[in-house]
Amino acid sequence: MFYSGRDPTPEERVQLDIKTPEQVEGMRAACRLARATLETAGKSVAPGVTTDEIDRIAHEFIVDHGAYPSPLGYCGFPKAVCTSVNEIIGHGIPDSRPLSEGDFLNIDVTVYLNGYHGDTSCMFFAGPPSKRAAKLCKATRKAMLAGIEVCGPGVDFREVGRAITASAEEDGCTVHPSLVGHGIGSYFHGRPEILPYVNDDDWGVMQPNMTFTVEPALVDAPDRTCEVDAEDLWTMCTMTKALGAQFEHTILITDHGMEILTGPCIDYTGMAPSPVKAAKKRRKGFQ
Ligand code: MF3
Ligand code: CO
Ligand code: CO
Repeated sequence: MFYSGRDPTPEERVQLDIKTPEQVEGMRAACRLARATLETAGKSVAPGVTTDEIDRIAHEFIVDHGAYPSPLGYCGFPKAVCTSVNEIIGHGIPDSRPLSEGDFLNIDVTVYLNGYHGDTSCMFFAGPPSKRAAKLCKATRKAMLAGIEVCGPGVDFREVGRAITASAEEDGCTVHPSLVGHGIGSYFHGRPEILPYVNDDDWGVMQPNMTFTVEPALVDAPDRTCEVDAEDLWTMCTMTKALGAQFEHTILITDHGMEILTGPCIDYTGMAPSPVKAAKKRRKGFQ
């Protein structure tokens, strides 16, 4: 289903975008830069640092590499990246509040380089995280990877939501329905929608040289409600203020499987429960 509440028509389904080899190379470059930006921005995360400062670092890095931060001005979004702290599930706007010890946040980077968008996000910790936050982040990363692992030529798009949901349920978490993956290319958001939950949307099957994002958001309570901040019209959380986490990669369907264009996907899942280890890994973040 689209956000508008209707299913894709057969015509829309067959219009899914298959990239040419040249376009695939463009996607590779944009995704590499998105990944490098995310790492650079993540290194600045620490108690006392503001999300405005993280935004500035990411913005500068992107521009220095000849690209443009896709979110800036997108549907009126005012900053270069999204920073979603603690109970914010997504689309958080960087601001002047310094991060506190124990805060955790998603940084979502999208760059527009030479005509192509690359989109990726992961979670970072300002100081040692609570066990609850660490567990949620670990579960969310695992769910994203489960969704990515099923991807390949000939696979029905609905498999992604099934795999993500099975993984999240195993960890006692809820897949939040408000954030979904999307086709990406010379456009930021396009067909198909990559729904992270069990669904009946018929987009057909994945084909070589398609590119799309897998980006599940999980909450650690059975709460699928969504409140969008009435003033900024972007910031999303649940009504119970459950903690939220999200991970995102842009992937390419290849002849025999898939490739994580914004990867590699590093395994930092040994981070919990030791606060000392976690503090060390906080510098790197984990994806
Ligand atoms: N990067 C987000 C995504 O993964 C989109 C953010 S829209 C913005 O699709 F306007 F907030 F940037
Ligand atoms: Co994103
Ligand atoms: Co995205």
